[in-house]
Amino acid sequence: MSVLQSPVCDLLGIDVPIGSAGMAGGTAGPALAAAVSNAGGLGGLGGIDRGGPEEIRARIRRTRELTQRPFSVNVWVHILGVAPAFLDVCIEERVPSVTLSFGDATPYVDRLHEAGIKVMHQVQTVAGAKAAAAAGVDVIIAQGGEAGGHTGGVATLALVPQAVDAASGIPVLAAGGIADGRGLVAMLALGAQGVVMGTRFVCAEEATPSAHAHRERILAATADETVFTDVFDIVDGMRWPDGIHGRSILTQFAAEWHGREDELARQRDAILASSGVPGEAPPNAHSAYAGQAAGLVRDAKPAAAIIRDILAEAETVLARLRS
Ligand SMILES: Cc1cc2nc3c(=O)[nH]c(=O)nc-3n(C[C@H](O)[C@H](O)[C@H](O)COP(=O)(O)O)c2cc1C
Repeated sequence: MSVLQSPVCDLLGIDVPIGSAGMAGGTAGPALAAAVSNAGGLGGLGGIDRGGPEEIRARIRRTRELTQRPFSVNVWVHILGVAPAFLDVCIEERVPSVTLSFGDATPYVDRLHEAGIKVMHQVQTVAGAKAAAAAGVDVIIAQGGEAGGHTGGVATLALVPQAVDAASGIPVLAAGGIADGRGLVAMLALGAQGVVMGTRFVCAEEATPSAHAHRERILAATADETVFTDVFDIVDGMRWPDGIHGRSILTQFAAEWHGREDELARQRDAILASSGVPGEAPPNAHSAYAGQAAGLVRDAKPAAAIIRDILAEAETVLARLRS
């Protein structure tokens, strides 16, 4: 058994401790989720989309056509109050696992378990890890502030070991800032049993980046070219829990409006109107959600090659450390 395999692999029915993030809006669709699962990892399917819950049901079914292996559907907890059907379809479809993010998992854990669904919970704080453990989730994902997309402000390096200590023995996966074998080994050293990556998998060939030039921007960016901001949420009309903001590549639009959020809110209607498509932002106002690991991502390749290369590099790093 490879030292890289961990008990969480048995728990989730996967071969390698690598997951792809269930990125909303279609970026992580059936093709990406299935490719990661077929490569032995845990494929993540975005579970929130403007197309609504029935669109997610269709994507779950499509994923099942593409893989026999376990995958996880990502659902934002903070919208379940107004849109509970995003979780209902996961339960009706008896998905292998659900990853809850951005809120209190407690009200949903029993229902998911009764349906035979594993519950993963992505948290951004130590308190969140404690609460997830108390709620009885099966796996905690500790998501650091380097992460792409919406996240909190605590860095992965500090959060992961503290989340492991707070998790009462529940397996912890690390997310945020990991894009190669060095990152995987570092997270295992911190006590995580594996990793979840988003930014790296936006540049998998099977991903369907939804944002304007999303993949190209990641391939060109370095670690210092992201921004932790609300500007895209203001344009999109999205609200997030306290302390949660979006990390995107620093686009020209973000550079222009970050720090001027009040004025942006006043200009929102005019910006939306300029797109010509009702309710949709013009291309220059699209987010390019990605994390500080963007600078480690220099090629687009199949998900299976991403996983294979990370595992090979991790083995090399371990051998070097041993010697
Ligand atoms: C384009 C993009 C979209 C994301 N969408 C979601 C989402 O819908 N739900 C969620 O819980 N996390 C989302 N995330 C965050 C990931 O779950 C994960 O924590 C993060 O990508 C890990 O950091 P990394 O980007 O450095 O790999 C998203 C990340 C990216 C890059």
